[in-house]
Amino acid sequence: MNAWKNVSDVGIDAIALSVPRGYVDLAELAEARGVPPSKYLHGLGTRQMAIAAPDEDPVTLAVNAARRLFERSGASPAEIGLCIVGTETAVDHSKPVAAFVHGLLGLPSACRMFEAKHACFGGTAGLLSAVDWIASGSARGRAALVVCTDIARYPLRSAGEPTQGAGAVALLVREKPRLLSLEVGQTGTFARDVHDFWRPLHHKEALVDGHYSVQCYLDALEGAYDAWRRLDGATDEPLVRTCYHVPYGKMARKAHRHRRMLDGATEQAADASFGVEVEPSLDLPSRIGNVYTGSLYLALASLLNTQARELAGRRIGLFSYGSGCCAEFFAGRTAPEAAALVDRLDIDGPLRDSRQMTVADYERLRAEDAAADRRTAPESARPRGKANECDRAVYLGVDANERRVYTYA
Ligand code: CAA
Repeated sequence: MNAWKNVSDVGIDAIALSVPRGYVDLAELAEARGVPPSKYLHGLGTRQMAIAAPDEDPVTLAVNAARRLFERSGASPAEIGLCIVGTETAVDHSKPVAAFVHGLLGLPSACRMFEAKHACFGGTAGLLSAVDWIASGSARGRAALVVCTDIARYPLRSAGEPTQGAGAVALLVREKPRLLSLEVGQTGTFARDVHDFWRPLHHKEALVDGHYSVQCYLDALEGAYDAWRRLDGATDEPLVRTCYHVPYGKMARKAHRHRRMLDGATEQAADASFGVEVEPSLDLPSRIGNVYTGSLYLALASLLNTQARELAGRRIGLFSYGSGCCAEFFAGRTAPEAAALVDRLDIDGPLRDSRQMTVADYERLRAEDAAADRRTAPESARPRGKANECDRAVYLGVDANERRVYTYA
């Protein structure tokens, strides 16, 4: 008999972030691009965007977020039986980011690991798979590590440029979670084959049909929300907050208006509820930018960071969108002990170490970035197995066989 069968209380037990060392202020970028700053700050709802240096990549961001997750939550890598990395910014066509993460973290060998790719939806695909793995009993008491890690890059001077960002969000998923219990099996899904945002194999920068992508996002929200509303019991209790996928702050505003109007609210009433129901989730996204797979979870981290105490026992909606496209609407309930844990997690701590860079420095880094995947790792560089507490994972370059080399420094 399987003693772990039918686990019903499953969800997010802890959250941790990592961000690159530098960011660009969007008022300065607007000035450099000859655009009124109010377009970026108010028109798009963005303030800063994190910029990765050539030694920071989706692997290092993921590892740094996951190490912080273990340190702050008190969980141990030995408890992990499933490791999923959601990313749009894979570093290899074959070897998954999850394998690098597994090695650098020293996760158990009895651990299923893989990478999930679907534009910004990969993190949610990972989270919901992890939840189902635990709910089915397959986990047998073990926990899952889901890491969403991305570097959002659009061409310099393109309309997408002010909506870039970089970072990782690590989620510990287990039964009896201390942050958010998810409503297992109760998700509304929408999928459609569209070309709104894509990145051909030879491109480091995304291509996007910008205004069309906004419409695809709203159509997918409508489809997923409709499917969710039709589930038994879904609408019995109101959602006091909703976190959306946040490519830029204004998109969450548009999404919320659209969703509340589907509920029958007038445009005015929908907008009036935005400040209470959505705004607290937008602080971290506006300081980091779009982190693709992690954007929804950055919004959730922001919300819990500011309101975990008052949201204890309350129900929260979550909307994930991945271009291409697939979307999912689902809900969860804040755990009573969430506020105490949030104090220990120090969720926005990594932003304190982040430094503003000039637009000229950002453009220089971007030029170096193009060559980073082929940069030769120094002959003397050898991966270090063990890290000290304050070390960060660093990408050194590739060896003579084009294998990526990482270390802690
Ligand atoms: N002061 C205040 N507001 C101003 C302004 C000013 N001086 N000038 C313009 N604005 C407002 C505009 O009125 C507009 O507001 P609304 O959206 O409410 O109409 C807003 O600023 C943006 O202006 P534009 O539409 O003219 O902006 P744009 O065409 O230059 O670019 C964009 C906007 C198409 C979204 C572009 O940033 C882009 O391509 N971004 C990347 C794609 C993206 O993020 N899509 C989102 C959906 S897809 C998704 O979510 C997946 C993902 O993560 C990529």
